[in-house]
Amino acid sequence: MIRYLKHKVFQVISDISEQEKVQCYVIGGYVRDIILERPSKDIDVVVLGDGIKIAERCAGQLGQNVSVHVFKNFGTAQIKLKGVEIEFVGARKESYNRNSRKPIVESGTLEDDQNRRDFTINAMAISLNKASFGELVDPFNGLDDIRDKRIVTPLDPDITFSDDPLRMMRAIRFASQLDFTIDPETFKAIQKNRERITIVSKERIVDELNKIVLSPKPSVGFILLEKSGLLQVIFPELSGMKGVETKSGVAHKDNFYHTLKVLDNLSQVTGDLWLRWAAILHDIGKPKTKRFDDNLGWTFHNHNFIGSKMIPGIFRRMKLPLNEKMKFVQKMVNLHMRPIVLAEDTVSDSAVRRLLFEAGDDIDKLMNLCEADITSKNEDKVKQYLNNFRMVREKLEEIEAKDRIRNFQPPVTGEEIMETFDLKPCREVGDIKSAIKDAILDGIIPNEHDEARKYMLNIAREMGLEPIR
Ligand code: CTP
Repeated sequence: MIRYLKHKVFQVISDISEQEKVQCYVIGGYVRDIILERPSKDIDVVVLGDGIKIAERCAGQLGQNVSVHVFKNFGTAQIKLKGVEIEFVGARKESYNRNSRKPIVESGTLEDDQNRRDFTINAMAISLNKASFGELVDPFNGLDDIRDKRIVTPLDPDITFSDDPLRMMRAIRFASQLDFTIDPETFKAIQKNRERITIVSKERIVDELNKIVLSPKPSVGFILLEKSGLLQVIFPELSGMKGVETKSGVAHKDNFYHTLKVLDNLSQVTGDLWLRWAAILHDIGKPKTKRFDDNLGWTFHNHNFIGSKMIPGIFRRMKLPLNEKMKFVQKMVNLHMRPIVLAEDTVSDSAVRRLLFEAGDDIDKLMNLCEADITSKNEDKVKQYLNNFRMVREKLEEIEAKDRIRNFQPPVTGEEIMETFDLKPCREVGDIKSAIKDAILDGIIPNEHDEARKYMLNIAREMGLEPIR
């Protein structure tokens, strides 16, 4: 393992631990990640003794402008260097309070510290001590589990998960990020303890959920969340999309698995977290709008609109941001059915302009979502739909080049309308403004100030308004 310990900080820690006669080990995620050859910048060092003292001495050695942040309550200290953060912690033997995640901390041996960790792959340590520098201390065969791509707890999983239920989410997150399998006993314990997730803060849960969303193939994580029963607890709207109903011999598709396919498709073309969230939520309005029509079969009228209205409630409960990120997701969900219609031969320029106006600069992301939404198993159909969307993209480009609608600002402002007719802010101003916008989008007038002003004077006259100058 010595070859992994090239950073000068490891030598410094080693020298100081020798002088102080305490033992130090690199432990946890950093060790896992160097073996997996993943980039990692958080180094955790466990100290069998006073971690804060070792951290302070190391910082002194590393240079004048290196400072230590001490977290007295936790008995930890952190040093930030360029590109890496090193956290020093005293070895712990922890016992937990059943109703909270707050552990009662007692100092312990290296073995105690490794015992209390979440998974075998996260419980490995590398010695920084002179006599054994670079030796791997791996009491639970984490190395084998990395090789076999296995997530398994070091202790009885019931103990590990009830100590800290967030670990149930972490197990699934690691499985999804690393494409590992969760050991059957460990998975059974997640199923059994799933309700305990409710004692964990929403922020920490959504942090793990976002890591699942950002993993290379997020369906891996979502299927595990569903199978474990955790999804029902943390995201009932999504788990409620599972299942197929049949009437008069007609079945609709399973919207849960369809959604996951769309999410995986999209994840191949973008790492944008919020566009991925739009994929997760694009059909969330379907269960509420599902009807069976004798002639049409299953319908989900307006599911895009109903879905976009559900989003603030979901975001608020899950502690996702309620800002422009949420508005973007709502916009994508609301508009996701629109490009399909534009594929028709007879579509008017004005329909294309309207979509460009509503989507604005997010039009390309919307098209990515729509293309990901093609999940047919029939390859000919997939080809045909993709071809349709290629045509839609061409139409969008053509109209945008001609009419510059993407960042459209009406050429006559509200202020100009108020000044011209001596009006205070009122409904008429809004009506005139939107009539001008509609005339431009419908191609009645070009997107230019003088034409728009002429048009304004005409419609105002029809409304009984005369200009003051
Ligand atoms: N750990 C744990 N239980 C938790 C969180 C963390 O046992 N609920 C332990 C694990 O040994 C883990 C280490 O603390 O490896 C560091 O945790 P953290 O920095 O949160 O995660 P990493 O495992 O490093 O992974 P990532 O950086 O991807 O979050």
